[in-house]
Amino acid sequence: MTAPHLVPLAPFDLVIFGGSGDLALRKLLPALLHRYLDGQIVDGTRIVAIARDARSDDDYRARVRDALAPVAARDPGGEAKLDGFLALLHYRRLDLASDDGWPAFADEIRAERRVRVFYLAVAPDLFAAAAQQLHAWELVDADTRVVVEKPIGRDGASAQRINDALGAVFAERQVFRIDHYLGKETVQNLTALRFGNALFEPLWRAEHIDHVQITVAETVGVEGRAPYYDRSGALRDMIQNHLLQLLCLVAMEPPTSLDADAIRDEKLKVLRALRTIDAGNVGALSVRGQYRAGVADGRAVPGYADELGHASATETFVALKAEVRSWRWAGVPFYLRTGKRLPARVSEIVVTFRDVPHSNFEGISALAPNRLVLRLQPDESVTLWLMNKVPGPGGLRLRQVPMDLSFAEAFGGRQADAYERLLMDVVRGNAMLFMRRDEVDAAWAWIDPIRAAWEAAGDAPKSYTAGTWGPSAAVAMIERDGRTWHDDAA
Ligand code: BG6
Repeated sequence: MTAPHLVPLAPFDLVIFGGSGDLALRKLLPALLHRYLDGQIVDGTRIVAIARDARSDDDYRARVRDALAPVAARDPGGEAKLDGFLALLHYRRLDLASDDGWPAFADEIRAERRVRVFYLAVAPDLFAAAAQQLHAWELVDADTRVVVEKPIGRDGASAQRINDALGAVFAERQVFRIDHYLGKETVQNLTALRFGNALFEPLWRAEHIDHVQITVAETVGVEGRAPYYDRSGALRDMIQNHLLQLLCLVAMEPPTSLDADAIRDEKLKVLRALRTIDAGNVGALSVRGQYRAGVADGRAVPGYADELGHASATETFVALKAEVRSWRWAGVPFYLRTGKRLPARVSEIVVTFRDVPHSNFEGISALAPNRLVLRLQPDESVTLWLMNKVPGPGGLRLRQVPMDLSFAEAFGGRQADAYERLLMDVVRGNAMLFMRRDEVDAAWAWIDPIRAAWEAAGDAPKSYTAGTWGPSAAVAMIERDGRTWHDDAA
């Protein structure tokens, strides 16, 4: 295997608001450690964690050491270099609602002129206050970038307010809206497959594709995130961003270049071409569910309302039948489904091609349509299902067999976490894998009527047993069209 080509980055400053939170400890710092171990982040870089409790640098480093020691141990030579990484870390106590501590912090940051990244790993209702403080303390210059996590708002209107507040301080090119699905290797591979091979493009259209399924299934429940999740639900938490972004990458027209805006222009057109789902068709085109007690990951688990401690109308499962109204895709359903407490953790995109126009094998073997399956996780792979002759003498029989490209087998090595690439792209100023403001607006413009129609209908989400594939209505929705959910996922 050829080693990846890594260009070390000039020392930069990364300031993480919410620096002792779950995202920082579980995702951001491990990703930064890997980039340090690979030599991409160099000594002299400063990573400053901001939170509200009093803590010294040494305290913070000790806490991070505990979290990162197992990560470092998995990398040859990692343990020996962990101290070097911890030395890049600093901790500052700041409150976004007060000026305490800001003058000293601002002096410290302004002392160096270099790329400066502010990562807002805090609740979205604090984004505006953060932007105002950074502006007030003159911490924003041409080399400054801000990173925000999803969800950007709860609906189109609140997203506008957040984006306005960010836009008052930062130019759009300085705002990096993370959707970590875009940083996953297989998701980037979708673009490589579609536009790096001559094979797919002529077939990539309604004439040859019967339908597309996008599944993001999780076995976890809501765990410690219930307060956030209950206000959000699967539609806002997963569909508005991750699943719609996957749909865009499958459906978009070839971009004129790999320039960030060229790609985002094409994704935006897909979002704008989605058929509206509203009160008139929501019953036929959507199913929402909520898990009750069952068995997941091999153990008995409580239902969502029990985890929460009260009844709730929040959905933990959504299935939708979407359609992209364009010449390329007219009439091709895109079935989307995502949920918590499903039987397996699996994310995949399945493109099912049309049947052959005429079968020469009638009475011999039934022909199954070709399928291209992109497995995003776990076990990243691309599989093309083809009809083949069953070898051996005797009568001619056909069977569908997979042509399999497993990433682990083909490329070996460790699969980098999405945040590694995304964080390095922010420092480099490459916005290709981040959402532009108009994309966020267009995604909400499609989501808001679905939510409004559910609310107007007033019915509760359909119940499903934890550890099953969601409410039976989700199966009925696709079976009404004479199709079934891809069973490799099941
Ligand atoms: C997050 C959602 O964006 O994605 C979570 O808020 C979800 O609810 C997570 O669990 C899934 O990410 P991944 O990378 O584990 O598939």
